Amino acid sequence: PVSVFENPKAASLSVAKRIGDLIKEKQKNNTHAVLGLATGATPIAVYAELVRMHKEEGLSFKNVITFNLDEYYPMQPDAAQSYVSFMNEHLFAHIDIDKNNINIPDGTLSLEEIPAFCLAYEKKIGDVGGLDIQILGIGRTGHIGFNEPGSAPNSGTRLVTLDDLTRRDAARDFGGKSFVPTKAITMGIGTIFKAREIILMAWNRKKASIIKKAVEGEISGEVPATYLQLSEHVEFILDKDAASELT
Ligand code: F6R
Repeated sequence: PVSVFENPKAASLSVAKRIGDLIKEKQKNNTHAVLGLATGATPIAVYAELVRMHKEEGLSFKNVITFNLDEYYPMQPDAAQSYVSFMNEHLFAHIDIDKNNINIPDGTLSLEEIPAFCLAYEKKIGDVGGLDIQILGIGRTGHIGFNEPGSAPNSGTRLVTLDDLTRRDAARDFGGKSFVPTKAITMGIGTIFKAREIILMAWNRKKASIIKKAVEGEISGEVPATYLQLSEHVEFILDKDAASELT
C-alpha cells in the first residue's frame, strides 16, 4: 500500500508513532523490539520525533535492539561521514538505548574478515527473533540499503560496489565524489524481505521518478526497490512531491 502525506513532517510523525507504539507494545509483553534502521536525509525527522518522545514523553529504548542497513567500506566509525556518527548524532546519543544492542556493519574489517562478519550479522538478526520493522529510504538508482541495480532478490548481507550515481549523490558529504568510498557493506534484499513490516519513505520531487518506477514499474533487478512489490507487508510512505508521478 501507498500512503501519501501533505509533507515530510506529517509522514515522519506517523512513522515515528508506529515505531513508538511497537516499542511500547513490546514493553507490555516484556520483550524487545527489533528495528532495522536507515541513514541519509530521509529518516532524520523520524529520529528527531523519537528523541522528542524519549525526552518529553519518557519513551524508553531499553528494550530496543537495532540493526542498521549499511555502512561505507572502508570507514572508520569516528569519521564524520560514517553511519555510526550519523546514528549517534541523530538518535543514539539522545536516547537510553543499551549500546550493546546497537548493530551497524563494521567498515574497519579487512576484506578477508567481511564474509564471516556478514554471516554473523544475518545470524544475529535471526537470533533475536528477526526484524519487527525495517525502515528504508530509496536512492535515485532504485537502491534500498546499498543494494544497487543488479542485486539479487535473495541477497544477504555482503560487500557491494556503489553505483556512480550513488557516489555523486554522496559527494557533498565527503567534499567531492573522489572521496566517497567505492564500496559498502549492506544488508541484502533477502535480509530486508524477512522483516515483519517494511516501511519505505521518500520525500521531494527528486524522488518522484524513481518512486514511480519502484511502485508501478516492472519488477526487475535494474530497480532493486521494485522487488518490494512482491512483499505483502511493505508500505510506501510518501509526501505529495515524491508521489507526484504516480498514476
Ligand atoms: C541509507 C541507505 C540508503 C538511503 C538512500 C536515500 O542507510 O540505505 O538506501 O536510504 O540512499 O538517501 P537519502 O535519504 O539521503 O535520500
